[in-house]
Amino acid sequence: MRAMEISTTLTTEPKDDARLAEILESPGFGVHFSDHMFTAEWTPEEGWHAARITPYGPLTLDPATAVLHYAQEIFEGMKAYRHDDGSVWTFRPEANAERMVRSSHRLALPVLDPDDFIQAVDAIVEVDQRWVPDTEGEEKSLYIRPFMIATDRFLGVRPAKHVTFMVILSPAGAYFSRGPLPVTLWLSTEYTRAGRGGMGAAKTGGNYASSLLAQQEAIEHGCDQVVFLDGQELTYVEELGGMNMYFVYADGRIVTPALGTILEGITRSSIMDIAGKMGHPVEERRISIDEWRDGVTSGEISEVFACGTAAVVTPVGELKWDGGQTPEVTEAGEVTMKIRQALVDIQYGRADDTFGWMHRVC
Ligand code: PLP
Ligand code: COI
Repeated sequence: MRAMEISTTLTTEPKDDARLAEILESPGFGVHFSDHMFTAEWTPEEGWHAARITPYGPLTLDPATAVLHYAQEIFEGMKAYRHDDGSVWTFRPEANAERMVRSSHRLALPVLDPDDFIQAVDAIVEVDQRWVPDTEGEEKSLYIRPFMIATDRFLGVRPAKHVTFMVILSPAGAYFSRGPLPVTLWLSTEYTRAGRGGMGAAKTGGNYASSLLAQQEAIEHGCDQVVFLDGQELTYVEELGGMNMYFVYADGRIVTPALGTILEGITRSSIMDIAGKMGHPVEERRISIDEWRDGVTSGEISEVFACGTAAVVTPVGELKWDGGQTPEVTEAGEVTMKIRQALVDIQYGRADDTFGWMHRVC
């Protein structure tokens, strides 16, 4: 496979060292962006072309640009980690690349070859490597946001014939400002995130837009995040707005909702391997809201956690709904924290990468 040709134009105004140090000291999530961005274009005639790294900056889009009207767009979320020796690594980038291919099928967008995806991510991360924070005991990283948008100037509804793929970078601290303390969840019984035949398994902006009202409802009820049930029977647990879910049983089994209408999280599948290796039988199956409520009340379910690239592994505390809640949870569960530690130790190069997941960028 021939490597993509990427032209590079460096910024004449890189963030100065003092300001960058200040940002990396306390990066937050998704608020600061690195000095450069990656862009490539696609047309049916030319395929992918014009791959380039340029100074980070605003896009100029015609008001009739298709993505602004019909939301034909997909994205990915991944991170670059700095190891103690200064080297920079990504975690299972081929899994993000392959998921983007699956998302592109669902959104009728062109396929970006996984090798080109990885080359693009590597190239931009290498150019902006000084934006990868040192960890200093905290879990900082450089969040990587590849995305693909329909850039036709056309108001007809049809798959775009001009598509733009970009990668931007944003240094990240903890996604939840309170650290790995249990988050409380609001059960949405009014709104669902995805239905059969819908886009639930694709990483596309519309799924996040549709989660916002329910997330707002969660906040109004004093909860951190919303949990969605299946769209058909309103019975089976699906996922949170931006994370998958896991249930730890007192007998050591761990259960995660089956695929279909949820996003196939890379953290989710990595945890299956990590937990399996630790001796926990892992089940992927439907889990009803009653099994959750009854299980945490009886003690049959001893821990609940959520997982995703941005949030890593986050303990789940109380589940609240209109008229009730599960018993109070004050601290993170032992199995949750053991799995979390095993995962971040691999990502930060503090444990052997026995699964071969880490990819060195520079
Ligand atoms: N589910 C949704 C809806 C998400 O947005 C995410 C975050 O990316 C996940 C699950 C977890 O996926 P991953 O572990 O690949 O980040
Ligand atoms: C991620 O974990 O990468 C996500 O996409 C979650 C959210 C920031 C959208």
